[in-house]
Amino acid sequence: MPLLRLSLVLLLLSPALCAQVAKPTLHEATLHEALLAAHADRAGDPGVATAFRHLAKTYGTPLYIYDQAHIRGQVDALHAAFAPRFSKLRILYAIKANTNPVVISLLKAKGLGAEVVSRGEIETALRVGYAGPEIMFTSSSKNPGEIQRAIELGAVLNVDSLDELGQVQAEARRQKKQARISFRINPGVDPHTIHQINTGIAESKFGLHLQDGIAFKAYEKAKGMPEIRIEGAHCHIGSQITETDGYVLTARKMLGLVKDLKEKLNIKLAFLDLGGGLGIPYEDGQTLMSPEDLAKALEPVWKEGVAAAGYEPTLWLEPGRFFVGGSGYLLTRVNTVKQTPLKTFVNVDAGFNTLMRPAMYKAYHRVRVIGKTKDPQLVDIAGDVCETGDILAEARMLPRAEAGDLVVILDAGAYGFSMASEYNARPMPAEVMVDGNKARVIRRRGTYPELFRNTERATPTKH
Ligand code: LLP
Repeated sequence: MPLLRLSLVLLLLSPALCAQVAKPTLHEATLHEALLAAHADRAGDPGVATAFRHLAKTYGTPLYIYDQAHIRGQVDALHAAFAPRFSKLRILYAIKANTNPVVISLLKAKGLGAEVVSRGEIETALRVGYAGPEIMFTSSSKNPGEIQRAIELGAVLNVDSLDELGQVQAEARRQKKQARISFRINPGVDPHTIHQINTGIAESKFGLHLQDGIAFKAYEKAKGMPEIRIEGAHCHIGSQITETDGYVLTARKMLGLVKDLKEKLNIKLAFLDLGGGLGIPYEDGQTLMSPEDLAKALEPVWKEGVAAAGYEPTLWLEPGRFFVGGSGYLLTRVNTVKQTPLKTFVNVDAGFNTLMRPAMYKAYHRVRVIGKTKDPQLVDIAGDVCETGDILAEARMLPRAEAGDLVVILDAGAYGFSMASEYNARPMPAEVMVDGNKARVIRRRGTYPELFRNTERATPTKH
């Protein structure tokens, strides 16, 4: 395989590099190459297997592994598609996708702002060095403490209802400050994605509907409030979107609002945020819109819309999954293999407590068996949670695996660890960041004492 051969040649040619790259040894792939090779369905190669075994031995399983180069590459790809077409552009990272501070720092270093959905995410963003004004706070149900904190920090509050607008006004008055706001708008657009992550349709709980002038009236009301500074309009129509049509329709509707606000209320917005939601390929051979496709499709609608409005707000985008999803690998070990009259189960040491997406959304994640190529079998990869629904991958033809083998689940970088839990009293997995041939722990594995960290110490009962 060319990559491995390339690394071998480089290592042989460069004594300096040899000194740096002590592990793995010559016949092995660098860690980064091994991750790419697993993605490209070459997880059976011995050099690739050595790299994964090294990771499993050093850090244990289940283990989240992220590839730094992938994350950076995704930001560059989005930027390359949009920056030449949209001169006023700001990109934020929706940190809920992966809240590891090291991951967020990487994205911050690339110049991205932070989109957060809770007080915990606000604190996370501050911890990695974001200033309050760089933060956008979106949630359809903010508690009073969250509203207070966001106003204190000068973050943009993405207001979701008239009720919330009143609360934000009252808190701003109390703080003798102006609250910076945008409204989250429900444009009533169906981007054709998984039901649970479809957010811009009329029946969704999110946002103020464009329909019946509801959103317009909210701006009208806010305009009369001295405690409120209107900065933008926001929408987010869903997640794992694979086609451009929904975005185009949304942009058209939102730009219509921008025009109306200017013409009828003389409100000029600093930004129009079209949300996140850019899908990634989860299946081999899957084709879906690229950032380039999306930017190209939006460009004429945007130009037309801003010409009609008579000014250009900054275009904001706030993807999460697109940046981090494909960077993540969930490495897990086979505990047992069991044949039942109906199926073969490969029972691994991760479950829906580690990666919830398959159980929750019937989401498909590719699976690779490490270091094995022979004797393909139709199997279910079953988790270690005591529930029937804990199947990580269903009906897959995979090389025969046995107890002790490693299995890697791909594209687990978004909504993987961030949705994980200690259900079944299993400590949280570790997270490791790979940079070339180096790996470092960016979150240590949870411990058994941590399972009891916030509980009262129960006294053993005597019978
Ligand atoms: N902005 C807002 C307001 C959001 O609610 C979300 C995601 C995003 C941005 C980022 O969306 P992304 O670019 O990552 O698609 N747990 C689900 C996904 C839920 C997304 C929730 N909102 C999953 O595992 O597929």
